[in-house]
This record gives sequence, structure tokens and C-alpha cells, in this order.
Amino acid sequence: MKVTVVGSGYVGLVTGVCLAADGHEVRSVDVQADRIDAINRCAPPFYEPGLPELLRSVTQSGRFSGTTDLARAVREAEVVIIAVGTPTRGGRIDLTALEGALQSIGQILACCEDRKTVVMKSTVVPGTTDTLARSILECASGKNAGQGFGLAMNPEFLREGSAVQDFRNPDRIVIGSWDDASARAMDALYAGYSCPRVHTTPRNAELAKYAANALLGTLISFSNEVAAICESVPGTDVQTVMEALHLDRRLSPVLEGVVVRPQVLTYLAAGAGFGGSCLPKDIAALLHFGAENGVAMPLLRSVLDVNLARPAKLAEMLRRELGALNDKKIALLGLAFKPGTDDLRESPALRLAAVLLQERAELFAVDPFAANYTPGSVDPRIRRAVDPREAFRGADAIVLVTAWPQFIEWNWETLVALMRTPVVLDGRNALRGVRMPADTRYRCIGTAESPRETASVG
Ligand SMILES: NC(=O)c1ccc[n+]([C@@H]2O[C@H](COP(=O)([O-])OP(=O)(O)OC[C@H]3O[C@@H](n4cnc5c(N)ncnc54)[C@H](O)[C@@H]3O)[C@@H](O)[C@H]2O)c1
Repeated sequence: MKVTVVGSGYVGLVTGVCLAADGHEVRSVDVQADRIDAINRCAPPFYEPGLPELLRSVTQSGRFSGTTDLARAVREAEVVIIAVGTPTRGGRIDLTALEGALQSIGQILACCEDRKTVVMKSTVVPGTTDTLARSILECASGKNAGQGFGLAMNPEFLREGSAVQDFRNPDRIVIGSWDDASARAMDALYAGYSCPRVHTTPRNAELAKYAANALLGTLISFSNEVAAICESVPGTDVQTVMEALHLDRRLSPVLEGVVVRPQVLTYLAAGAGFGGSCLPKDIAALLHFGAENGVAMPLLRSVLDVNLARPAKLAEMLRRELGALNDKKIALLGLAFKPGTDDLRESPALRLAAVLLQERAELFAVDPFAANYTPGSVDPRIRRAVDPREAFRGADAIVLVTAWPQFIEWNWETLVALMRTPVVLDGRNALRGVRMPADTRYRCIGTAESPRETASVG
């Protein structure tokens, strides 16, 4: 099929490249010309494993290209997928980019003779597709949804860091259609996929995405609330408590005598809190949407509150070890919101950094992408280091905020020996088994004592 994807960010570009790999002819559109230039040079504007190789392959095949020419891309398409950003502003979903894209697409549809299907892939609150999107498209095109053009909502569940793999091997495809012809067009688009499909209304499709993210955020905040108890009650350790919880057969089924550890258990883990471009803003948007509809949603309010408290907790642990933080050299390990991505949006590391800078600490950050972040995306007072020795040398404390696997493989005995005071704060409980010098003051999440001084998980 001929497909145009409007918005070439994490979701749009991955969607376009993967659909081209499936055999479709794809145009990826963006308003940022430099982004499109990079895409056409086969250099994705962000890090995503497997994307450069697949982008090169589909570009060379002639089935994929980027463009800023929306009008031409829409005219030539059978399916137009919208994947622009839907951030929150003041807790409410901000639809400015979406409305702009819909308006432009609608005006182009007015001049198209063939019937196209417009698909909302951006995450939007229930009712956005069948009210706001429909009315903008209808007004701008002078055509009716369902007759003059098709309309569907197809939420995306990919995760940054494994986006290509997730898109190509989805757990399910959710298709909320305004009209039957759009449902058929979406089935044709995903003809090569054998996973379960949920055909439903646009509103159910919209809410399914929020429900998924709200659950994941809830699991993380639940784990962090258990950690908060452990941090206050001597003799408890969240790691042991969660391990015992995970072994419940309803969470870890035993199949043919083998304990299966489902991926969802990785969300039942204490740490520095969740960030990224989805969980915090989607839960906030759902809360606001609930309030507009007279539903208070106190559980989700608490999920965000517990999450926001985690970086503050790390700062408090640092103060306990170092006293006042002014002029203390502190190195943050990891800047992105999770390993495997260069996405800094809502990163707990940046939230912690803001607190520490406020207290006039001298900050270093070690991150695999330290050199790549654009000016303005990271506070210039944070000195970035690619070589960990630069950050450890003379440091008063090290805080692991993002658990990149390579951090765990470092020679910690050598690195900690470079520090002025050997305080290692493990915000992800990732370094518990790592060898460090005997005088290391190792502190981790979810226990009042150092686990090196208490019993370990057996
Ligand atoms: N990032 C994720 O992991 C993820 C996962 C699932 C769903 N989502 C949802 O997908 C949507 C996109 O997220 P993202 O992370 O890809 O955003 P992003 O910010 O990475 O990309 C959005 C892109 O849209 C472009 N854009 C804005 N207005 C445009 C217009 N009128 N025409 C063409 N391009 C335009 C921007 O320049 C930008 O390149 C959001 O609604 C998000 O909630 C994101």
C-alpha cells in the first residue's frame, strides 16, 4: 500500500521504516527539514537499536523516503498515519501539533479524488478521534468521515530502546475504526502480522493505550512505595521483598517445572522512578481528562506523586552521606530516562540534577550519549564525560540513575579508588553484586542499611 506517515519522531520514523520493510511504499513527513535531511542520509535523528540498518535497507530498496512536502505525500497515499507529538501542558494534553497536522491534511484531502484513510497513531484522550480530529478533517476537506475519507485510531505500544523489535513483533494491534472501510484498510496494512487484533471503536482504542501506560506506571510506583517503607524500617530490603512477590505463581507461572519470569516483572521493581515521553505525560493527561469528566482518579494522582518523590529521596540520601551538597563533586551515571535510548524527556536523572544544582553541587554526568545531546537539552552546568575516570576522579559521590548494562561491567574497584569520598548511591539497585573497595559507602534503594552489611538475596 502507499503510506504517508506525518511526524518522523520515535514513533513515526520507526512506523514508516517498519511498514516499508513489510513491503509498503512509505513517505515519512516532518516539519523539521534537518530531520528529513538526516533521514534521507540514512542517519536517524535519534538512537534506536536496529533502526539505522533497516532505514538503509528500505531507502536503498526505493520503498522509503523522507520529505517535507506534505501535500504531495498525502496526495500519493492510500493511508495517512499521524504520529506527531502530543505532550502535556499544565497537565492537560496539548494538541497543537496534532491540530496543525489535521488542518493541513484536511485541506489537501479537499483536492484529492480518491478516498484515503486517515489514521491517528499519536496518543490522544478518548473522544479526540471521533470529535476533534473528525471535525477538523471534515471542515477543512468539505467531506464526510466514512464517505469522503476513512478514519481510524491505531495506538502504538512500542518502547524506546526496542522500538523496531516491538513494532515488528507486536503483542496486539488495536484498531479503532470510524467506518468499516477503514477497518479493512488497516487489516490490509497489517496483513503480514499474525498477533491478536482488537477491532473496536476509536474511543476504546484511545483508552486502551492510556490504560496500558497507567498500569505500568502504577506497578513502578507501587514498587517504590514498598521501597519507601523498607527505607524507613530497619531489617527490611525491597529487593528481597519484591523477589518473594515475583515468585507468586500468578506473576511467575511454573511451566513444565520451570519458573517463567514475564517481562512485566521488570516494572515491579524499585528505583529512581519512571520518566520518558510517555508514562508521566500520559498518566497526567488521563488524570486531567478524568477530572474534566468528573472522575477524580486518586490512584493515578498518587502514582505520579510517588514517582516525583524518588529523585528527592536520592538527594536526601546524598545529604545524609555528605552533609550540605554545595561544592560537592557528584557524578550522575546515566542521563536518559532508561537504558537503550537517548531520550531525555522527563528523565529522573535530570530531575535529580535540578535538585542538586539548586543546592550548588558540582555535577558531572557519564552517559553513552554524553557527547551527542544538543545544546539546550542538558543544563550546561552539568559537565558531561564519556570516560568514567573523569567523573570518578576526586568525586564526593557517584549516583547511578540509569542502569546502562555497561556501567555494571566497569572495574569499580579501580574507579572508586579515584574518588575523594567513596560514596556510591545505586538508584536502580543494579550494582549490588559488583566488587568495590572495602571502604566503599555503598547505598541503594529500598533498605535502611547497606545490603553489604545485611543478608543478601539467596
Ligand atoms: N516515544 C514513544 O515511546 C511512544 C510510544 C507510543 C506512543 N507514542 C506517542 O506517539 C506520538 C509521537 O511520539 P514521539 O515520541 O514519536 O514524538 P517525537 O517528538 O519524537 O516526534 C514527533 C515529530 O512530529 C513532528 N511534527 C510536529 N508537527 C508536525 C506536522 N504538522 N507535520 C509533520 N510533522 C510534524 C515533529 O517535528 C517531530 O519530529 C505521541 O503522541 C506519543 O505519545 C510515543
